[in-house]
Amino acid sequence: MTRNILIVAGDGIGPEVMGEVERVIGWFNEKRGFDASIENELVGGCCYDAHGVAVTDETVEKAKKADAVLLGAVGGPKWDNVPYEGRPEAGLLRLRKDLELFANLRPALCFAALADASSLKREIVEGLDIMIVRELTGGVYFGEPKEITDLGNGERRGVDTQVYTTSEIRRIAEVAFDLAKKRDNRVMSVEKRNVMKSGVLWYEEVKKLHGEKFADVKLEHMLADNCAMQLVRNPKQFDVIVTDNLFGDVLSDIASMLTGSLGMLPSASLGAKDASGKACAMYEPVHGSAPDIAGTGAANPIASILSFAMALRYTFELGADADLLEKAVDTVLADGLRTGDIMQPGMKKVGTKEMGDAILAALTKLNG
Ligand code: IPM
Ligand code: MG
Repeated sequence: MTRNILIVAGDGIGPEVMGEVERVIGWFNEKRGFDASIENELVGGCCYDAHGVAVTDETVEKAKKADAVLLGAVGGPKWDNVPYEGRPEAGLLRLRKDLELFANLRPALCFAALADASSLKREIVEGLDIMIVRELTGGVYFGEPKEITDLGNGERRGVDTQVYTTSEIRRIAEVAFDLAKKRDNRVMSVEKRNVMKSGVLWYEEVKKLHGEKFADVKLEHMLADNCAMQLVRNPKQFDVIVTDNLFGDVLSDIASMLTGSLGMLPSASLGAKDASGKACAMYEPVHGSAPDIAGTGAANPIASILSFAMALRYTFELGADADLLEKAVDTVLADGLRTGDIMQPGMKKVGTKEMGDAILAALTKLNG
C-alpha cells in the first residue's frame, strides 16, 4: 500500500524547509519501508501569482484524498496589497475548513539542549512539555457575519463573529481528554466566560462532557488572559490546554517562545473520521514564511521535520518511526548544531541543508 503525501511548500522559507522534509521522507522510504509517494502543489502567494487564487479547487481535492498534507508556510510582504479573498492566508484557511481540520495539536516541548535559548530562565522552561489543542474550524475565524459596512455617515463598522455550538465544543474537548489520558491526564480548558457568551457555553459543555465520559481526567478551567500570564510565569503547571481558535492562535505563539524558538514547533491539524475511517490531516510548522531570510539557506527545518514526525505518529500510526525521528533531532541539538534562530555561544552554526544532512546522518546512526 503506497502512502500518498501531498506537499504544499508555499512561500518564503516554505520550499527550503520542505526540501529537507522530502529528503527525510526519502530516508524513511529507503531505510524503514515507509513506501510514500510525494506530490507537490502550490498554496499561498505563489499560487495567487500563478492562478489568481491562494489555493485551487484541484489542490483542495487532492488534499482531501491524500493520506497526509504537509504544508510549509504562506505569506509575505509581496502580497500585502492583494484582495482580501486572494491573500496567501486564505489558502491555508480554506484547506483547514474544506478538509474539516477541527483539531489543531501544538506541542510546546523544550529540548534540554535549548533551554538557554528561551527568553525565560532555564529553570522555568527546562523539561517543559505542553500540548495546546486549538479548535481550528470555528470561532471568530469563520463566524458570520464577517464584514465591513459603510454606515453612510462617514463611519464604517467592522464585524467578526465569535460563534460555537455544542457539537463543535464537544468534539474538540474529546480530542483534548483523549490526549491527556496518554500524557499526564490533566486538561486546562481556556475561555473568557466572564465576558463572552460563547465562553460560558464552552465552559459548560466541556464540564458536562467531562462528567459524562472523562471523569477520570483532571479538568480545570482558566480565563484566557490569566492563561497567557501563567504561561510565562509558570508554564510547567500545564499538561493539555484546550481552547478556541483565536485564543489558541495567541497562546500557542506565547508557548512557542518558551521552547527557545518558533523554528522548533510542529503542529498537526486533524479532521473527523469519515464512514470508512479515513480522516484528513495536515501537518505544518507553527512558524511563518520568514521572508527576511527566505532564499538564504539559513532557515531552521526542524519544525517542519518534527511536523512530519507527527504525521508518522498520528496519520500513519508509526510511533516507533516518529520516536526515531524525534530522537535524531534531539541528538543533533545535543551535538551542538544550531541554525541562526537558535544559535548560542560555543555552538556550531549551520544552514538549512547542513541541518538536514545532520538529521539524516543521525537517523542512519540510530537506526543501526
Ligand atoms: C497560525 C497562523 C494562522 C492563523 C494565519 C497565518 C492565518 O498564525 O497558524 O497560527 O492565524 O491561524
Ligand atoms: Mg498563529
